[in-house]
Amino acid sequence: MATDVRKLVEQMTLEEKASLLGGADFWHTKAVERLGIPQFMMSDGPHGLRKQDGDADHLGVNDSIVAVCWPAACATASSFDTELIGKMGEHIGDECQAEDLSIVLGPAVNIKRSPLCGRNFEYFSEDPYLAGEMAAAYINGVQSRHVGTSIKHFALNDQEFYRMSNDSVADERTIREIYFPAFETAVKKSQPKTVMCSYNKINGIYASDNEWLLTKVLRDEWGFEGFVMTDWGAVDDRVQGVIAGLELEMPGDTAANDAKIAAAVREGKLDEKLVDQAAERVLKVVYDYFDNKQSGVVFDREADHAKAEAISAECAVLLSNNGVLPLASGKKIVYIGEYAAKPRFQGGGSSHINASRVVSALDAAQEKGRAVEYVKGFPFDKDETDEAEIAKAVEAARNADVAVIFAGLPDVFESEGYDRPNMNMPACQNKLIAAVAAVNKNTVVVLHNGSPVEMPWADDVAAILEMYLGGQGVGAATDALLYGEKNPSGHLAETFPLRVQDNPSYLNFNTDPEKCVYAEGVYVGYRYYEKKEQPVRFAFGHGLSYTTFEIGNLRLSSDSMDDNGSIDVTVDVTNTGSIAGKEVVQLYISDENGTPDRPLKELKGFVKVELQPGETKSVTMTIDARSLSYYEVKLGDWFAPAGKYLIQVGDASDHIMACAQITFATAKTVPMRMDGSITIGELMKNPKTAAVLQGMMAQMAAGSPVLMDENDPMMTAMMNFMPLKSLKSFGMMDDEKMAGLLGILKAAMES
Ligand code: BGC
Repeated sequence: MATDVRKLVEQMTLEEKASLLGGADFWHTKAVERLGIPQFMMSDGPHGLRKQDGDADHLGVNDSIVAVCWPAACATASSFDTELIGKMGEHIGDECQAEDLSIVLGPAVNIKRSPLCGRNFEYFSEDPYLAGEMAAAYINGVQSRHVGTSIKHFALNDQEFYRMSNDSVADERTIREIYFPAFETAVKKSQPKTVMCSYNKINGIYASDNEWLLTKVLRDEWGFEGFVMTDWGAVDDRVQGVIAGLELEMPGDTAANDAKIAAAVREGKLDEKLVDQAAERVLKVVYDYFDNKQSGVVFDREADHAKAEAISAECAVLLSNNGVLPLASGKKIVYIGEYAAKPRFQGGGSSHINASRVVSALDAAQEKGRAVEYVKGFPFDKDETDEAEIAKAVEAARNADVAVIFAGLPDVFESEGYDRPNMNMPACQNKLIAAVAAVNKNTVVVLHNGSPVEMPWADDVAAILEMYLGGQGVGAATDALLYGEKNPSGHLAETFPLRVQDNPSYLNFNTDPEKCVYAEGVYVGYRYYEKKEQPVRFAFGHGLSYTTFEIGNLRLSSDSMDDNGSIDVTVDVTNTGSIAGKEVVQLYISDENGTPDRPLKELKGFVKVELQPGETKSVTMTIDARSLSYYEVKLGDWFAPAGKYLIQVGDASDHIMACAQITFATAKTVPMRMDGSITIGELMKNPKTAAVLQGMMAQMAAGSPVLMDENDPMMTAMMNFMPLKSLKSFGMMDDEKMAGLLGILKAAMES
């Protein structure tokens, strides 16, 4: 039976209630022994357990228990497989139950605004829809085991540069369309037990003090029912935090701030009801764990290792392939690069896992009895050119049928706590790849990295396999993919630009220690590259397979919809090749109404489907009014103009294979400001005000035939941007008549 937490709160002293609003130590909440209230333990997250029994820290410096390192979010997002990530969540939930952990600190859903963010490996995507769906699936998986999650870092924490103090300055539309939806979707679809607020300010107010963020949006609009905790050390003004809707300060010991909360109540500066409410919210999550504690769950590291390995294979993205992959049997293969022996499989910082075991591609090859030669070529942990090693690699490549280079970013290149200065791979690796590709046209590059890299050699190699940071099973997964035992099926959850300078945030990333201006607005990732017609190395959604697919026969449950409606979009997907494989079907929508300032298209649905050779399956994705909408600040709501929208389905943002148009009708109207600054053009666009204006113009035409010549395109174009008030400047109207006209227009609008 569920513990009556309200009753418990009623029995508590003010000090006891305040004490529940701060941690006991690095990882525990406080107990209230007098009432038998237990403390609970949490741990990072997100892709495995970083449970620290000994010295604690939030940067992954000290040891944690031996655990399983699952693929990081950069990889899992590329699977485009919500079922898969849900399963991974279930396994992590079971591990938590076995280890007495009540909350795993993740998922991390900040948007990949710049490829340079040091923590991109831990985040899902540049696209808010994809990030939200993946987060919700992960949370539902973990929480199905009665273990809580903490979706983080809320919000606009998209860089590491001055992350604890910087002010993220963004307009509301950008925040609502790009930086909120991953959190919003997760709250609405999976009710995370907790939300972790970020360190930074948002438009001048620290997230931990921000009532608009933590209460108005998170609770009142989205319906969040859990509790909000700070990122480690993110509290600013503890009393303001309680008012804003921040329940738990982490880490402990928080005695001084607990006392401030109690004192503020005594001094009449803080309503005790807010303290009661916060304590109750914390206890609800505490007891949700203890009331449902499962006994006898075992953390079987070997079994989970095998599962992590299988997931890693589902996440890898085959970026290019001229047919050299999969590797044919009987070929002479050389592996080059130290990552073949020591794969980079996770990022640095608070998500760092003490992996139970790590399998390299070389280990896997040996285990399977593959005759593979190995040359170190370059070190795995630094940028240090060794000419003798390069010469050895070139010689071995010259004598091999295929050279597979295991490349990527050393640990120190990307981590929590700092951003990358550029998008380069180590120079020693680029040099070696170019040298090897020059002597062997069958050069394959396998990448281990948490975010995009520049690839000056991309057109000179035969294939590129992006393994990302694939967790402790990445070596075996790579082996299975290289030799065709598994068929690659990941697609990019982010664009790979040609150069970092092409990225839309380039001029506003890490330029000012005090603030970060999100000047590119909603044009993040492919939304920018497409609109700008900026060529990229690999587009969002791109990913190849060893088989081929066709997508077609698009049909709609209806070709029209209104505010409350929805449409099922169905396509047939056929495996036209000779081996089994999985296709990622992606649905994008374009506004075809000439609405200014909208991306060319946006992802609004996806499905991953497995097909045997020759097999066809129908897949259905459902869209609704929100799928067509942008956030209209004047309305304070989502809005899609009435008119036409193009539904586009394909297997990459740059590879659309089927389309259909729909018509949308809406009862919503965007309020017009009815003062002298409204332009003739705006008034003419609305049928109600246009009628008034046309009547008035007809009257005036007698007096001023030149000004009112409707058949003169130049004149009408100029009139478009003429504010109503300028009619006064040309002596056509006095104050009184203008007031009268505005009154008539207002009445027409409201009619
Ligand atoms: C990170 C969080 C993490 C926390 C605890 C912070 O530095 O930003 O993501 O959960 O430390 O380790």
